[in-house]
Amino acid sequence: MDRFRVWAICATLATGSAVAWPAQKGDAAKGKEVFQQCGVCHSADTDEKKMGPGLKGLFKKDKLANGKKPTEANIRSQIDDGGNGMPPYKDVLGDGEKDDLIAYLKTL
Ligand code: HEC
Repeated sequence: MDRFRVWAICATLATGSAVAWPAQKGDAAKGKEVFQQCGVCHSADTDEKKMGPGLKGLFKKDKLANGKKPTEANIRSQIDDGGNGMPPYKDVLGDGEKDDLIAYLKTL
């Protein structure tokens, strides 16, 4: 139940920011669905490590596990190229799906 509430709040926030910021590309609600395939290795609602680092507050971290800043470009290349135990998603996800995914990651 708790977990559901967290999702519900995220979805609400995402909808809110989409209205406030219509120029932003990507749909966080769709991104959450795409994220299901990442959930085996990443927790979205804590910063605890599973196979990979927890992604809660991802864009607010000082730096990523690979030492880079958590900018949109660096996170996109982590998703594209993987590395250090993460598979590459360059050819697995379409550009639209990646935009959705990043919009979703920003809500964490
Ligand atoms: C097989 C397990 C696995 C899967 C599946 C996986 N990842 Fe990862 N991911 C990792 C590991 C391990 C790292 C740490 C890499 C490192 O140490 O540089 C990582 C790192 C990351 C990071 C950087 C986080 C940080 O704090 O440094 C992001 C963002 C990320 N993954 C997103 C995703 C997304 C989005 C997906 C789904 C499309 C995904 N991952 C699927 C294992 C995985």
